[in-house]
Amino acid sequence: MEISARAALLTPSLTLSIDSKAKAMRAEGLDVCGFGAGEPDFDTPDHIKAGAIQALESGFTKYTPTAGLPELRQAIADKLQADNNLTYKASQIVVSGGAKHACYNAILATCQAGDEVLIPSPYWVSYPDMVRLAGAEPVIIPTTERNGWKMRAEDFENAMTPRTKMLILNSPNNPSGAVYTREELGAIVEVAAEEDINILSDEIYEKLVYDDTEHVSVASISKEAYDLTITINGFSKAYAMTGWRLGYMAAPENVAKAADSIQSHSTSHPTSFAQRGALAALKGDQQPLADMREEFNLRRGYMYDRITKIPNITAVLPQGAFYILVNISQLGLSSQNFADRLLSKANVAVIPGAAFGDDRTIRLSYATGIDIIKKGLDRFQDFCRTL
Ligand SMILES: Cc1ncc(COP(=O)(O)O)c(C=O)c1O
Repeated sequence: MEISARAALLTPSLTLSIDSKAKAMRAEGLDVCGFGAGEPDFDTPDHIKAGAIQALESGFTKYTPTAGLPELRQAIADKLQADNNLTYKASQIVVSGGAKHACYNAILATCQAGDEVLIPSPYWVSYPDMVRLAGAEPVIIPTTERNGWKMRAEDFENAMTPRTKMLILNSPNNPSGAVYTREELGAIVEVAAEEDINILSDEIYEKLVYDDTEHVSVASISKEAYDLTITINGFSKAYAMTGWRLGYMAAPENVAKAADSIQSHSTSHPTSFAQRGALAALKGDQQPLADMREEFNLRRGYMYDRITKIPNITAVLPQGAFYILVNISQLGLSSQNFADRLLSKANVAVIPGAAFGDDRTIRLSYATGIDIIKKGLDRFQDFCRTL
């Protein structure tokens, strides 16, 4: 059977080959240290599970409204007000099957053939393909380590054409851990407002910021920012709920309506009892978030200290998320080649930066136990010495 031109446009996942090789090595009994994880290694807090279990036991197993339970949409609106200084009505919130799904709905609802969507690199792996699926064209804006892997307002301005429809911002960032300051976002918003460019602001790592770093929601910067921005967030990273598949958008009313329609004809609402778990997450004890962040913070410090002592590689101290991006460009290997060799020679799995549109780098996740981190970094250090 022939596949559609749209499906043929998609790029195969570069992370998959490393992942399947690591799995095959483990199946052979080899001790592989994995730094590839894109999800917290903690369990979902008990009170959240209890919310879903109670829903199941009481027979809460039928269809819900497409955009999510009204009480969940309201709880999300309350959260956005309290945490992010954002005023949304429940009708502006659409709950979806993960932040990934929310991003895709948002792009489908606003972008089409002929549009360009600007994406600073290194970027989260799915954005360009989502843009292609919507028939639009991804335009990549490379960033530099010197600028902390952040796009400057002038980079944005220089990349703009009459076809530019949207900018995708992701702060805290996967894979770099960069967090944009209020001033940096203010300058970017000013450029966007001049040309009426929409902003998709993916804030899924909002709760994971370190030291005295502040997470600033793009839509909270100004009235113009609010009108131009679709805010994306979810439960996966903050509450260790990746498998629950729950995320959401907060958007201007007409965009939320369009996303609701798209969702109604594709996946419909997210799982009924999972939504009750999400409600428990928002309304319940927030201490588990702080505990997880504290543990991530310890690992972050340990990894950064060790990595920056290794000759010929460099890294910027990540301010958010749970990744550290390592610049390997001085070693003269492509990121894929480096990752392949590291895995086969040292039994350490990392994600090649080519997957994020930046071949100068590799990504290590610290969403794994400190013992594995220590052992993996010993091997990583020895491997780098051989190059
Ligand atoms: C930047 C970014 N956005 C969105 C997602 C997707 O999150 P979810 O599991 O809620 O779909 C991820 C997951 O890795 C991510 O890193």
